Amino acid sequence: MSDTAASMPAPWAPASPAPLGPPGLDRILQDPGFCRHSTGRVAVVEWEAGSGWSEPRIEPYGALSMDPATLGLHYGQAVFEGMKAFRGADGTVSLFRAADHGRRLARSAARLAMAEMPVELFTRACAELVAADAHWVPGGYGQSLYIRPLLLATEAEMGLRPSRGYRCVFLAYPADPCFGSDFRPLAVTAATETVRAVRGGTGEAKCAGNYAASLLTRTEAQAAGYDEALWLDGLERRWVEELSTMNVFFVWHDADGRPRLATPPCDGTIVRGLTRDSLLTLAAGLGLPAVEEPTALDAVRDGIRSGGLAEMFACGTAGVVVGVGRLGTGDADLIIGDGKEGPVTERLRSALLDVQHARTPDTHGWLLPVTGNAGTAAIEGEGRDA
Ligand code: COI
Repeated sequence: MSDTAASMPAPWAPASPAPLGPPGLDRILQDPGFCRHSTGRVAVVEWEAGSGWSEPRIEPYGALSMDPATLGLHYGQAVFEGMKAFRGADGTVSLFRAADHGRRLARSAARLAMAEMPVELFTRACAELVAADAHWVPGGYGQSLYIRPLLLATEAEMGLRPSRGYRCVFLAYPADPCFGSDFRPLAVTAATETVRAVRGGTGEAKCAGNYAASLLTRTEAQAAGYDEALWLDGLERRWVEELSTMNVFFVWHDADGRPRLATPPCDGTIVRGLTRDSLLTLAAGLGLPAVEEPTALDAVRDGIRSGGLAEMFACGTAGVVVGVGRLGTGDADLIIGDGKEGPVTERLRSALLDVQHARTPDTHGWLLPVTGNAGTAAIEGEGRDA
């Protein structure tokens, strides 16, 4: 970086110094939980037919006022992202894979016939919010500022058609991993009665309706003592897809005991997780073979019994990487390995968090610094569509 660039503030740095935050902020940042405390600020971007996208505005957190006939409430045009900003070893705050989250939001929006926000605008709105809220970013390993961009149809109209108005509200919360910072292995159970998605449906879109569709089964699984429901494909009810909040990986051992990772392919019915994608990349760098391959629940059951399946883990932005220790398969409850977190799960989580907290070099260009002098140089070309 040139001296000139280094001395310039990042374009999204707040004009005046950010406030110090509310009394008790230090205590909140020590133990934020998962999204219990809003930073009290949001970024807002709007779209109207005819005028297009507005510039981002940073506003106080507040209730949305909506006409009860709002299209988004009746017909479900609502998509969102879950993404994070991390504090690095030198204190710099960086967004993780911001442009990729913007691209995914645009793809989700396109599937629901909603306006697609330019990736550059999405990235800028996130960066301006995080720059304004930088003092809310906790510093602990695995902690982050969780950003939830929600894009909602806002036009009031009873007829079934795409809205001609949208609002995207970016919320921000200091956060621990959503299943806890201790990464206690999860218990999950296969959903045998209901399905979450079918080919050609909206399963890949990060839309509110998919999460609504998962709630009943997930709640029943939790009432039965599990943390999550494991979804199977909608046609044969045989192939493992994902959890309600996370993608899944299997760690198989070959005859010589060497690990081999596999995760279900993205064929339109599972969310294209950016944590999933990051782990596939990081695994290659660690010399761990990793493939996307269909995996039948029967094969998982047999693998657990024979010991060929050594580990299973879940991954997602909110939960990071967390082992699965117990699997309900419909007819039996099986313990995977010794039920504790396996070494591959731990190794991949550390590799991911080390990049996110800038403890290892960002060789994939996943970090976008939003505070400190690095911000100016980093935005050149970032998040712009080709
Ligand atoms: C995320 O991992 O960020 C998600 O969006 C999942 C959410 C339902 C907690």
